[in-house]
Amino acid sequence: MPFDVKTNSLEHYWLPFTDNKGFKEGPRIITKASGVYMTDHKGGTVIDGSSGLFCSPAGHCHPKIIEAVHNVMQEMTYVAPFGSAHPLSFALAEQISRLLPETFNHVFFVNSGSEAIDTALKMVMAYHSATGQSRTRFVSRERAYHGVNIGGVSLAGLVNNRKTFQSVMPNVAMMRHTWNADELMVRGQPANGVELADDLQRMCDTYGSDTIAACFVEPVAGSTGILAPPVGYLERIREICDANGILLVFDEVITGFGRIGGTFAADAFGVTPDIMTMAKALTNGAIPMGAVATSDHVHDVITDKAAPGAIEFFHGYTYSGHPAACAAGLAALSIYEEEGLFARSTEMSPYFLDSVFALKDHPMVKDIRGIGMAAGVELIDKGGQAQVDLFWNGMHTKFTGNTGILAPMFTCEKSHIDEMMEKLEKTLDGLM
Ligand SMILES: Cc1ncc(COP(=O)(O)O)c(C=O)c1O
Repeated sequence: MPFDVKTNSLEHYWLPFTDNKGFKEGPRIITKASGVYMTDHKGGTVIDGSSGLFCSPAGHCHPKIIEAVHNVMQEMTYVAPFGSAHPLSFALAEQISRLLPETFNHVFFVNSGSEAIDTALKMVMAYHSATGQSRTRFVSRERAYHGVNIGGVSLAGLVNNRKTFQSVMPNVAMMRHTWNADELMVRGQPANGVELADDLQRMCDTYGSDTIAACFVEPVAGSTGILAPPVGYLERIREICDANGILLVFDEVITGFGRIGGTFAADAFGVTPDIMTMAKALTNGAIPMGAVATSDHVHDVITDKAAPGAIEFFHGYTYSGHPAACAAGLAALSIYEEEGLFARSTEMSPYFLDSVFALKDHPMVKDIRGIGMAAGVELIDKGGQAQVDLFWNGMHTKFTGNTGILAPMFTCEKSHIDEMMEKLEKTLDGLM
């Protein structure tokens, strides 16, 4: 798909999370993608260092996903999801459940990670309402990213995502983040910091544990720079939730589907939450889709409360479980299984992490964190410039402030990782 910036107006499209004026002066437009590579509008080849935005572990334009979506669109392009359904939504929910902890047999479809978070918040409210409890306080964490809808922004611990939006949900308390300035260059889980989980206990002591509805955590804080939980941290959070009747929500929008080992973080860290959110790799990024899975207990409490014949949960989206998204999701999950991509993520992780941590003495690098097939490289400065320069050096990666976040596709060869590191190092050299 050619694109000529001289003949196309760049004016009308307002890009999300982008310096629009700067972008339009020097646009970076992708016109084609296949596997690990993309093509820019000048014809240059760009290696994708962050699987889009953690979306595409099986690579861009996987033919099986294209075929599955094409096929379903011959049969149905839309089915109303309130009070009716199509077969693929049941099939996909069942396949997702097979990847989750044994007690997770209920999946609710949404269209993004942000909608998954808002849906999870409403499930928590519905659960406590069903049990007759008035728990109205939510606990989140500094540096958390839970999407951009009002619920997610209320839980946001990244200040830039909150500061212009004042009218968010009240009653959210923040635990401290787990980044420790005295312990830099941490590969895997930090050995220290389990006591940070006791912030949740302090909130119980301060506000009254019977006022707290749920604790939301990204098991590995992703957008802020891949902060793995200190050893014992998630276990301690789980214990405090159990002791105080608080629901634990894992936001697995990044960590789901093999990114940090296992299938989901719940599996990788051996800690089972009450509710899990997911999106992104659910369809390998091909069609927008998210989901919220609940434990049988949470599901049953909410649904058993309703009178016979009544709608149990007054929530849903016009595009919940869209046929094209379900087809893409089913194809993606079967590719992950057939190509053994979760195992491949685990196998490739040591090589990937060795390569990233080799940058630790670079003068532009302040800190590196990494686990599984994800790593954050925090620069001392110039993150915005780094992202642009890196692109023109032939590599895409996501940046949050000064932190570049690498999340290669699981289909990558070692040579692809070498190529990414050469391009990243060259870019960092150019910034000095
Ligand atoms: C942990 C987490 N939750 C929620 C979201 C929001 O997802 P979306 O951008 O699909 O709304 C993201 C997006 O990066 C995320 O990383």
